[in-house]
Amino acid sequence: SRSIRLAVIPGDGIGPEVVAEGLKVLDAVAQSHDLAIERETYGLGAARWHETGDTLPDSMLEEIRGHDVILLGAVGDPTVPSGVLERGLLLRLRFELDYYVNLRPVKLYPGVTTPLADVRPEDVDMLVVREGTEGPYTGVGGVMRRGTPQEVATQESINTAYGVERVVRYAFARAASRSRKKLTLVHKDNVLTFAGDLYQRTVRAVARDFPEVSVDYLHVDAASMFFVTQPGRFDVVVTDNLFGDILTDLGAAIAGGIGLAASGNVNPTGDAPSMFEPVHGSAPDIAGQGKADPTATILSVAMLLDHLGVPEAARQVESAVAADLAERQGGPARATSQIGDAITKRVAG
Ligand code: NAD
Ligand code: IPM
Ligand code: MN
Repeated sequence: SRSIRLAVIPGDGIGPEVVAEGLKVLDAVAQSHDLAIERETYGLGAARWHETGDTLPDSMLEEIRGHDVILLGAVGDPTVPSGVLERGLLLRLRFELDYYVNLRPVKLYPGVTTPLADVRPEDVDMLVVREGTEGPYTGVGGVMRRGTPQEVATQESINTAYGVERVVRYAFARAASRSRKKLTLVHKDNVLTFAGDLYQRTVRAVARDFPEVSVDYLHVDAASMFFVTQPGRFDVVVTDNLFGDILTDLGAAIAGGIGLAASGNVNPTGDAPSMFEPVHGSAPDIAGQGKADPTATILSVAMLLDHLGVPEAARQVESAVAADLAERQGGPARATSQIGDAITKRVAG
């Protein structure tokens, strides 16, 4: 059997609740595909910060780096100042492990209720390739005269030719492998003229290597509108870190809700383990109540299996989720563990 070293970071709020269900499904599918999962759990997040004051010790980062793949729940807690865990843990992992591709499928499964009228599943099937290591996320900037009427806060967007080229090239390759072969660059080059121009020129240059891919451009404000009014315009979307963050919560909403949206933080070079996580956060408003939908985490497990080169196992998980989603409509609300159990049963059976 093939052994896989998995690092698990349950995190905060609903993170541990949804990760538990993801692991149930992973264990069930591993059995039928002869995978031996060696699991190590890392107690990172709010509780650790309160106890020790640290978010991700270097030694733990190095241990995590030694795994094949990572599953993360969510981080962030109302008892911790905003940004401490988000930057110190999640973004630190994205930067240190160089996750320049943040893969976020937006897919409407048959039978799922969407707020959009007259939309069919085939109209909502896109892959957002969000840049993961640059843009306004790097922490470059600062504050002067804080707390005074003269306060100035800057938060710079860093975009490098190297960073933009590698994510754009990845997005083209993904577009080339899909049936519609369409790539839409989303930016704001009418205002963010320096960064937008770099993205535009990079897309034009890389396009020469992918003549089969058709290329489109939309400003992010218009793209937001078309996500709602004409989602069928989109196949693969490549965009900046912050635009991608915002657009994929919108994408989640049109595809049935944030409880269904999966993602992968991918380092395509293989120099570090990639990390899979639901798009949503720690949802403190429902934490500890068994109300969280674990589907996004379970679909993230499917992405993890795809990444590990076990597509049959990934499809088995995705089919089980699709079957569960198709039967959910109109039924009573189920607890987190009931949804996980139902999907696990389908995977096993
Ligand atoms: P959130 O995604 O946690 O919650 C937004 C809304 O969606 C809430 O009403 C929540 O109850 C609901 N929701 C989220 N996931 C759900 C699920 N699986 N099932 C059912 N409902 C679900 O976003 P937020 O409220 O903006 O942020 C809360 C905390 O999470 C903050 O600390 C934030 O920084 C952090 N956060 C972390 C991540 C991450 O770890 N990747 C992502 C987003 C936000
Ligand atoms: C996400 C989250 C993170 C982001 C935060 C928590 C740093 O919103 O994964 O979408 O902005 O990338
Ligand atoms: Mn987000």
